[in-house]
Amino acid sequence: MARRRIQHYATDEIEVTFDPSRCIHYAACIRRLPAVFEAAARPWIRPEAAPPEEIAEAVRACPTGALHYRLLRGGAAEQAEEARVRVLRDGPVVISGDVVVALEDGTEVVHDTRVALCRCGKSGNMPFCDNTHRAIGWRDAAGDAARARGPEVRSEAASLEDGPRLA
Ligand code: SF4
Ligand code: FES
Repeated sequence: MARRRIQHYATDEIEVTFDPSRCIHYAACIRRLPAVFEAAARPWIRPEAAPPEEIAEAVRACPTGALHYRLLRGGAAEQAEEARVRVLRDGPVVISGDVVVALEDGTEVVHDTRVALCRCGKSGNMPFCDNTHRAIGWRDAAGDAARARGPEVRSEAASLEDGPRLA
């Protein structure tokens, strides 16, 4: 997949940027602040609909780094949190912290506070997850073991089902 253009949404208090190539429709933004993030609306981000601090909090909940913000009248910049790695069942590995993603030769791909990296090997936007794992029905061994244990338990990975479809 070709990288898509970063989108900008701003008031005079906050600028929110959105990288569609990094969004895996996790919908954390929409669940947190539906007045601002509404997948069906155009524009789909309305920063004028909530105080900047609330928007910043919702942006920080985006696990993939697709969303970022900048406070335009002072206030703390985005901070890296304690390093945390989560392996989503049948999906990407989600990393937060002061994260540098680099190629084998050391070339830096991104330096960010949040990333979702492909585990299925089929992403069109390597090394990032682009949800191809869902399209191809990729299953990991941990997911197979959980399914063998009994009834499906709704997980963070399963909650991807509820995500938006953004152009
Ligand atoms: S990855 Fe999820 S939280 Fe981040 S922008 Fe996309 S839908 Fe919102
Ligand atoms: S894990 Fe999502 S595209 Fe590979």
